Amino acid sequence: MTLETTFKQSYLEYTLAPFKGYNDDELFWFFIRDQTDEKTQLEELSLFHNSIETILSHKIHELKESEKMRRSLSKELNSLKEHLKEQPDDGKMVGSSRALTELRDMVFQVAKSDTTILITGESGTGKELVANLIRESSGRNKKPFLKINCNAINDSLLESDLFGHEKGAFTGADRKRQGKFEVVDEGTIFLDEIGDISPRMQAALLRVLQDGEIIRVGGNSATKIDVRVIAATNKDLAAMVKDGNFRLDLFYRLNIINISIPPLRERKDDIVDLVTYFIRKYRLAFKKEINFLPQSILEQLIEHEWPGNVRELENVIQRAVLMSKDNVITDNELLFDIQPGSEDQKPSKNYLQRLNGSPLKAVLLEVEKDFITHTLSKNHGNVAKTVKQLEIGKTAFYDKLKRYSISPKDHK
Ligand SMILES: Nc1ncnc2c1ncn2[C@@H]1O[C@H](COP(=O)(O)OP(=O)(O)OP(=O)(O)O)[C@@H](O)[C@H]1O
Ligand SMILES: [Mg+2]
Repeated sequence: MTLETTFKQSYLEYTLAPFKGYNDDELFWFFIRDQTDEKTQLEELSLFHNSIETILSHKIHELKESEKMRRSLSKELNSLKEHLKEQPDDGKMVGSSRALTELRDMVFQVAKSDTTILITGESGTGKELVANLIRESSGRNKKPFLKINCNAINDSLLESDLFGHEKGAFTGADRKRQGKFEVVDEGTIFLDEIGDISPRMQAALLRVLQDGEIIRVGGNSATKIDVRVIAATNKDLAAMVKDGNFRLDLFYRLNIINISIPPLRERKDDIVDLVTYFIRKYRLAFKKEINFLPQSILEQLIEHEWPGNVRELENVIQRAVLMSKDNVITDNELLFDIQPGSEDQKPSKNYLQRLNGSPLKAVLLEVEKDFITHTLSKNHGNVAKTVKQLEIGKTAFYDKLKRYSISPKDHK
């Protein structure tokens, strides 16, 4: 029989073993063994086991957590990559105001469908940028994309350009030609300045949107087409409908989804983001090291009402970066655009003085802009006459008008 006991922190094991004595007496051996060392070792071993188990379970937990984290990071990375794909750096819509965030969400929401979209907003608010984003985020992003400025081309040219013509349709039409709606099949057409099209064009466009078909100029049979239309205007089409200058049925067809871009003065929260973005853009382009924008300059930029919207802001920053010295933009480089009708419209006496010390490129931009404004004014807003006098191509001329936020109509 073996029994155990502890005695003064020692661990004892004792055993009684019976045996017979010489006279057949019932006797017992009594053994006592000190087991303290063995017991302590066993306890330590079990403790060690337990702690290994705890460490292992901790490690397993950590691994699980880091796997979770890895998964969520890789998800985030993928969505960032997607987002980057959607917004290539030089076509990105900068701004974090509530209005712009909602607008961006709406753009991505409606892009995937094939619905016609009408983009409205003042000049320079980013209508073309939005049209580009819609197309890039749509299922038609690998298909052709054509931009037509309805304002830049005369009406009969526009019609045959868009819808094509049959042989002999007009003088010079010596063979049948496909129009852009046919060429762009399965793609997207961006009709800019849609408010400027004639009643005849309005009717033709209505046919496209209503029935998905076109009739070539000089022809009488219809051809089916599959084109997504995005249109833009800075005019109030509803008011034009009221005045009888735009067809109501076409307005409805175009206006299925309206993306209206608020003017910059109504979303001043975007100004700092935009200024930072444009400084970075032009700092790279002009190889300047601008790294400081005084608070007073930023305040002026926020204060300004931006009648020419983001385009005007971009012009101002472009000029400032180009003219800047010593890595900083100061009051000397901050030249706001001259708005038509304002006092400063004509080159002032101290014109050259104002440009003193500026790089030649910036001076040339200033002079070019002022001279175009001056010539347009002289010709009462007549583009054809101005283009002829300036000996410049019409497309290049319209590009410049856009760059400098000049509208011929303001000079009529
Ligand atoms: N949110 C923005 N972020 C970055 N750049 C912008 C933004 N909005 C506009 N821009 C830039 O401002 C300029 C004018 O934009 P855009 O040509 O799209 O304006 P618009 O509304 O079509 O003007 P218009 O009515 O005169 O044709 C472009 O260079 C465009 O890239
Ligand atoms: Mg535009």
